[in-house]
Amino acid sequence: MPQAHCYLHLALTAAAILLVVPLAAAYPWQVCGTTGSFTANSTYQANLAVLAAALPTNASSSPDLFATAVVGAVPDQVSALALCRGDTNATACSACLVTAFMDVQNMCAYDRSAAIYYDPCILYYSNLHFLSSDDNVPAASTDRINLRNVTSEPARFNRLVGALVNATADYAAYNSTRRYAAGEASFDQEYPKVYSWAQCTPDLTPAQCRGCLAGIIARMPSLFTDRVGGRFLGIRCSYRYEVNSFLHSPVTVQLAESGSAGAPAPAMEPTTVTPAVTGGGRNHSVPGTVLAIVLPTIAALLVINLLVWLCFWRTRRSQPCLACQNPTPAAGTENIEIIESMIIDISTLRAATGDFAESNKLGEGGFGAVYKGTLPDGDEIAVKRLSRCSAQGVGELKNELALVAKLQHKNLVSLVGVCLERQERLLVYEFVPNRSLDQILFDGERREQLDWAKRWSIIHGIARGLQYLHEDSQLRVVHRDLKTSNILLDMNMNPKISDFGLARLFGRDQTQGVTNHVVGTYGYMAPEYLTRGSYSVKSDVFSFGVMVLEIVTGKKHNGRHDDDGRRSPAQDILSFVWEHWTAGAVPEAIVDPRMGTGFSRSDVLRCVHIGLLCVQEDPADRPVMSSVVMMLGSDTVSLRNPSSPAFYGRNRISPTSSTSSGEYTAG
Ligand SMILES: *[C@@H]1O[C@H](CO)[C@@H](O)[C@H](O)[C@H]1NC(C)=O
Ligand SMILES: *[C@@H]1O[C@H](CO)[C@@H](O)[C@H](O)[C@H]1NC(C)=O
Ligand SMILES: *[C@@H]1O[C@H](CO)[C@@H](O)[C@H](O)[C@H]1NC(C)=O
Ligand SMILES: *[C@@H]1O[C@H](CO)[C@@H](O)[C@H](O)[C@H]1NC(C)=O
Ligand SMILES: *[C@@H]1O[C@H](CO)[C@@H](O)[C@H](O)[C@H]1NC(C)=O
Ligand SMILES: *[C@@H]1O[C@H](CO)[C@@H](O)[C@H](O)[C@H]1NC(C)=O
Repeated sequence: MPQAHCYLHLALTAAAILLVVPLAAAYPWQVCGTTGSFTANSTYQANLAVLAAALPTNASSSPDLFATAVVGAVPDQVSALALCRGDTNATACSACLVTAFMDVQNMCAYDRSAAIYYDPCILYYSNLHFLSSDDNVPAASTDRINLRNVTSEPARFNRLVGALVNATADYAAYNSTRRYAAGEASFDQEYPKVYSWAQCTPDLTPAQCRGCLAGIIARMPSLFTDRVGGRFLGIRCSYRYEVNSFLHSPVTVQLAESGSAGAPAPAMEPTTVTPAVTGGGRNHSVPGTVLAIVLPTIAALLVINLLVWLCFWRTRRSQPCLACQNPTPAAGTENIEIIESMIIDISTLRAATGDFAESNKLGEGGFGAVYKGTLPDGDEIAVKRLSRCSAQGVGELKNELALVAKLQHKNLVSLVGVCLERQERLLVYEFVPNRSLDQILFDGERREQLDWAKRWSIIHGIARGLQYLHEDSQLRVVHRDLKTSNILLDMNMNPKISDFGLARLFGRDQTQGVTNHVVGTYGYMAPEYLTRGSYSVKSDVFSFGVMVLEIVTGKKHNGRHDDDGRRSPAQDILSFVWEHWTAGAVPEAIVDPRMGTGFSRSDVLRCVHIGLLCVQEDPADRPVMSSVVMMLGSDTVSLRNPSSPAFYGRNRISPTSSTSSGEYTAG
């Protein structure tokens, strides 16, 4: 049995490394809109909830597995479209759409428009009236490239794929009322078959459908030349091709043998495509929609003999066979498989980062250096090279990383890949262009970019991300090292929390407990964590409070006193803010002068008030994050009066050796 277990892992590892090869973002793929945002408990949110309740059922019960809906009145009107792939059944369709609504509201939280793509379904909603148009909404489209190249006869392969995808598109548009087609063509010994899929929403006319597909097929040469697989996903039409079967139903189009762009011969008697392999693959899958979606793709590839051979081949080349090194039956297969599907091989990462060139180094984080990289398909990534040795074996590490990968929220940096080859432990994240908050907030000139509206939205975003970590994710995560350098800003200055979940990799801790391994940054650490190693969501709330006060004042908190023991206002912002608060001089006397004057006095006052509540000495006096989000979102909720903050008026228990921003490790 362990043998069998091991072989399964082997097979999956090999499949992931050699066949599925990195898609540069975690599945599913979301495209968050730029048509504005809505607020918690707004009419817009209520309308969206109506859609979420009705659309999965409406789509899955329609013969075309397609539904559209418009709910509410302008300006809170939401239009939506849901479509399942032509070879999906009603059960899988409905489950996929239910998951889609849940995921997208985390991944594009509070965005008025968003698209999300899964293998079996797509979902799009927007405050704009897109339904009357046949436009594919380019801004909501996405493409995914299978990064593996064909090696023999690439030119013939490209021609074959072009002809196959064209023929599949023709059939979908002109010969299927559901606007769906699946195709197949023969290639060579290395890749005996190429499979394709094309689909439009069934409300398009044949000409509209073919036009839509022609538009995205025209992108093939620039995106997919020489690639063994690729897909272009849009809300109105999509296509995909792969050298392995990803289809669940018989093909409708069979391309004639020749590699030239000859006339396609539609299959009169549809061929049944590898049902045995696909079905066999799914038997060991565990319940869960995402898995049900991811697995068949991988599983369909499992030609066991080939893989066993591959493994021996890899072993002969003295590369460690990861899964065998450390079989941990305890780790859930589900999690192992999630991580296997995210594996990116070291050579790809070396190439992407210029062999970890110093010039590509973005910084040195708590757990190791971070490098910028660009994958061959142009996707930008940030690669974290863990410097510390995790106490965990590969199996356990994968388990932990799978949990981190499942944490998906607009205000969290998403993990898109991992590499655990040889001694390397590399985590691949989405690239967030504006670096970290501290680099702007504490920079004499750049901080002027942060007017009050931006600061307010940053505070709000961090609060939502943290609420998700603490309360809304399946896994309740205490961050344990929240600070401005762990808040990254995207193009639109939306904050994204980074490094979450990493404390667990090194500490094996529960969400609450006492640790003798304090992972944190001096100044941001709650008193109980600093002195007793006791942490909980409330110690994160403390760090959040410190950040709020930093964002408002533009002063960096290092939580220390001057050498002669006097408190220095510039350094100890908790005391600084508290003293002005009690003197009634907030906000004027404390706001960052570089922020300009265009701020709402009451909003700033409220933020400071909330910040002070978060830095109370007693964890029980600090609010939980959902309360913080609520207090930030409404000015009718009345707030308790804060007492003096932690550390106030006491001589500090200051470890003399600590630096202002270094990590402080006790025990
Ligand atoms: C779902 O379908 C039912 C029955 O066809 C219809 O009454 C309802 O309005 C639909 N819901 C939405 C949100 O379109
Ligand atoms: C529907 O499809 C799913 C996944 O493809 C499969 O597991 C399930 O058995 C199918 N259900 C029916 C009723 O065919
Ligand atoms: C694959 O082909 C593309 C385009 O021809 C090329 O840019 C890329 O470097 C190749 N990648 C690998 C891994 O060979
Ligand atoms: C696909 O069809 C388009 C237009 O119908 C044509 O321009 C293109 O050359 C075709 N591509 C291939 C590879 O046959
Ligand atoms: C597909 O539709 C086209 C145009 O209507 C027609 O000429 C062709 O025969 C159809 N093919 C099949 C297989 O039905
Ligand atoms: C939204 O409504 C829920 C349930 O009614 C409530 O618990 C929550 O406090 C409200 N949030 C805001 C920001 O008003």
